[in-house]
Amino acid sequence: MESLEAVVSRALAEFAATDDAAELERAKARYLGKQGELTARLKALGSLAPEARREAGARINEAKDRIEAALAARRAELASARLEARLAEEAIDVTLPGRGRGRGSIHPVIRTWRRIEEIFGSIGFDVADGPEIETDWHNFTALNQPENHPARSMYDTFYVDGHDAIGKPLLLRTHTSPMQVRYARMHRPPIKVIAPGRTYRVDSDATHSPMFHQVEGLWIDEDVSFADLKGVYTDFLRRFFETDDLRVRFRPSFFPFTEPSAEIDMMFSSGPLEGRWLEISGAGEVHPQVVRNFGLDPERYIGFAFGSGLERLTMLRYGIGDLRLFYDGDLRFLRQFV
Ligand code: PHE
Repeated sequence: MESLEAVVSRALAEFAATDDAAELERAKARYLGKQGELTARLKALGSLAPEARREAGARINEAKDRIEAALAARRAELASARLEARLAEEAIDVTLPGRGRGRGSIHPVIRTWRRIEEIFGSIGFDVADGPEIETDWHNFTALNQPENHPARSMYDTFYVDGHDAIGKPLLLRTHTSPMQVRYARMHRPPIKVIAPGRTYRVDSDATHSPMFHQVEGLWIDEDVSFADLKGVYTDFLRRFFETDDLRVRFRPSFFPFTEPSAEIDMMFSSGPLEGRWLEISGAGEVHPQVVRNFGLDPERYIGFAFGSGLERLTMLRYGIGDLRLFYDGDLRFLRQFV
């Protein structure tokens, strides 16, 4: 019969020869499994005399221990080899340049919007927000522009399905001025607010878009004068354009909801736009009838309002010639504002 020593050497050689885990387990079974060679030898011990059995049993168990130790060592070797291989295969080359996600940026008109909120916020103006779908009353009537008023024709607009409580069709607001009424009816004087937002008109060319942005300003108290309007607005422009090198002009105009009314023009005293008057805002002292529509006594309360175009202010600030660039979504244009 083959010596135990020879069996152990054969087992160890077989373990060493394979680098396949399944093959290693099959080799193990040939020695230590139910039908394995050492198992068979242990079973055969029964036929020996007790003395001989103890001695032979001890030797077989010792051989078994050596085979098991070799098996465990080889298993560990194969496992770490597998891990090494996997690490090598899945290695990430960190020196490759990344793919980089596109960086978004704030739209130039929204930048202007935020700047305006910051500037007016710093001098105590609240910021309010309101509906873009308006009632006829808020958009026109409450602003002293009753039905058939000729000034309404300046503000042709989009009507939407649906009616207000008195059966008038709803419309897309033509200006932010209805926010004067909404805000003033919900607050007690002093009323000091700006209301930036989207507005709509049936207009479309290089300087007009059917959707555009305005910011409304309203300051009502017992003694807010036209001089206050001039001071506040001029100061706003200087801060917005970051220069004192500009001139501001209040040109007489007409709005049904202000009296007196003015167009505010400005002119840069230097730079590419130097020397040209540019119209940027409507403004005026709020008309007594509108103050009454606020729910306030016009004998006691007075103040100013203005409504300025955000696109216009943005075009002047960045020197943009065509308003339509704001809405094309062309990244070559928008990237300049990152
Ligand atoms: N709502 C006016 C417009 O859109 C601007 C304006 C606002 C004028 C407030 C006077 C006072 O043209």
